[in-house]
Amino acid sequence: MKSKLIVALDVDGLQEAMAVVQATRDVVDIFKVGSQLFTRVGPRIIEFLHENGKECFLDLKFHDIPNAVAKAVESAAALRVRMLTLHACGGEEMLKAASAVPKHPLLLGVTVLTSVGGNVQAEVLRLAKLAKRCGLNGAISSPREIHPLREMMGENFLIVTPGIRPAKTERDDQRRTMTPAEAMIAGADYIVVGRPIIATSNPALAARRIAEEIVFASGSLA
Ligand code: C5P
Repeated sequence: MKSKLIVALDVDGLQEAMAVVQATRDVVDIFKVGSQLFTRVGPRIIEFLHENGKECFLDLKFHDIPNAVAKAVESAAALRVRMLTLHACGGEEMLKAASAVPKHPLLLGVTVLTSVGGNVQAEVLRLAKLAKRCGLNGAISSPREIHPLREMMGENFLIVTPGIRPAKTERDDQRRTMTPAEAMIAGADYIVVGRPIIATSNPALAARRIAEEIVFASGSLA
């Protein structure tokens, strides 16, 4: 079975990113490449992932005029990324232009960033509905909105969730956090974890523990 743990490669260089991939490759199939790393090293990291039998979640959160976003999605498709993000608040025309791109990667709409406080649930649900109506494959949400999102969107909609903190770890700047098991039980398809893995002294062990927790939690759902 494919791993539901996505590791965020939020590091500054190719060497560091490669080291994280090597350390966690036994329990991770998809790695998230965001602005920090992609701006420095570009598609080389994606090539490295493919050479190692891994997939890329390109998290550049596209938000621009419809034509520019469609062209960016085409570029990502040419790089054979598995999934990418775009801001759902970019609106209907922009989202439809993205989903009209032939053979596009899985398109995930960013709803409300997990660093935002306050009661954002209604806005998350509104943006996820818009994303689905415009042909996107899923959405990014904080753990707290997983359950209401799953109830509303049904099974045929991916929910990908950052803001995950294993019990007894630092929350860093994440506000709406949950443990990996809680997020899976709430209905997430994938969880994205960065610092609790990449900023520890033993990323391999940290990733393995989280992956085991996910498998255990998924088993308890079956
Ligand atoms: O916090 P962590 O290092 O696990 O972050 C993993 C991912 O979560 C980041 O790559 C970022 O996309 C997202 N994030 C977020 N809100 C924050 C911090 C990170 O959504 N406040």
